[in-house]
Amino acid sequence: MENTIRSLQQEITDFEITTHADLEAFRLKYTVRKGLIAALFGQLKTVAPADKPRIGQLLNQLKLTADNRIDEEEAKLAANAGDSAKRIDLTLPGRRYFTGSEHPVQKVLGEMKQIFSAMGFGIATGPELELDRYNFDLLNFPPDHPARDMQDTFFVTTGNPDTDLLLRTHTSPVQVRVMLDHEPPIRVICPGKVYRNEAISARSYCVFHQLEGLYIDKKVTFADLKATIYSFARQMFGTDVKLRFRPSFFPFTEPSAEVDVTCYLCGGKGCRVCKKSGWLEIMGCGMVHPNVLRNCGIDPETWSGYAFGMGVDRTVLLRYKIDDIRLLFENDLRMLRQFPA
Ligand code: DAH
Repeated sequence: MENTIRSLQQEITDFEITTHADLEAFRLKYTVRKGLIAALFGQLKTVAPADKPRIGQLLNQLKLTADNRIDEEEAKLAANAGDSAKRIDLTLPGRRYFTGSEHPVQKVLGEMKQIFSAMGFGIATGPELELDRYNFDLLNFPPDHPARDMQDTFFVTTGNPDTDLLLRTHTSPVQVRVMLDHEPPIRVICPGKVYRNEAISARSYCVFHQLEGLYIDKKVTFADLKATIYSFARQMFGTDVKLRFRPSFFPFTEPSAEVDVTCYLCGGKGCRVCKKSGWLEIMGCGMVHPNVLRNCGIDPETWSGYAFGMGVDRTVLLRYKIDDIRLLFENDLRMLRQFPA
């Protein structure tokens, strides 16, 4: 018995306690009512009377050691917990999370949409992966017509002219989709991304944004087109802006024009951006070609209309004084963070 007590005494002193779980294991093994120490007390009655006082004392000593050990370890664990609480430095500044914000292209597009919505234009969208037919044929680009070369195309499939796909080179195919799906009168704008296989530089990128406009009704004239563009340009670029319509060519409009606004950076005096001309080109436009109306099931004897298409990115670059179009597409946070919500 004495030997058992001594070896337990040693065990209790050496028992490794580093966590609350260790402490609980210790308690369950030695000090609970059904633990080893209580069991030894139970055996005390079998000890010879002469040895009882000595063994009893040893057992009391053992019990005391175990109880003390529990008190000590409890205190240590509590002190450690206090330590780690102390390690939290409440004076440190909190972590800041970057809140997303509207991309500058979307801001400008949003303004454009608002101006046209107020004039009664609805918004239509179409796929960026477009049928060759919609991007070219139905817009009156004859096969092998050199006008197709005006736009360097990313072709996706080649073979069957009815199912050939490409990345749309302009938003004009959305006009086709709207006309095929809706009876006139039609008054929509079609904003979106377009793709061209061009050499990438600070001034041109393989993807950019356009906003297309289409108005079909009875007796629509070029005067309606001019009035709409004037109203848009004044709201977008300032009331002092002057416009210039230059004759041009697009297969899907006749007559066609390109529109310039007085350079809103130099007020028309001539600067580096407008290449000293005082003018900035903003869009192409014209009266929808009768062939296009016919291709889309609309009778050109009854209906007429105008269309226009403008680039969005250039306005973004000028508005925010960004000198490289690539910055609009690279999603570099150093750039985007300069446009907080
Ligand atoms: N789609 C032409 C382009 O990308 C722009 C354009 C010109 C659109 C005249 C039109 C238009 O709707 O009438 O260069």
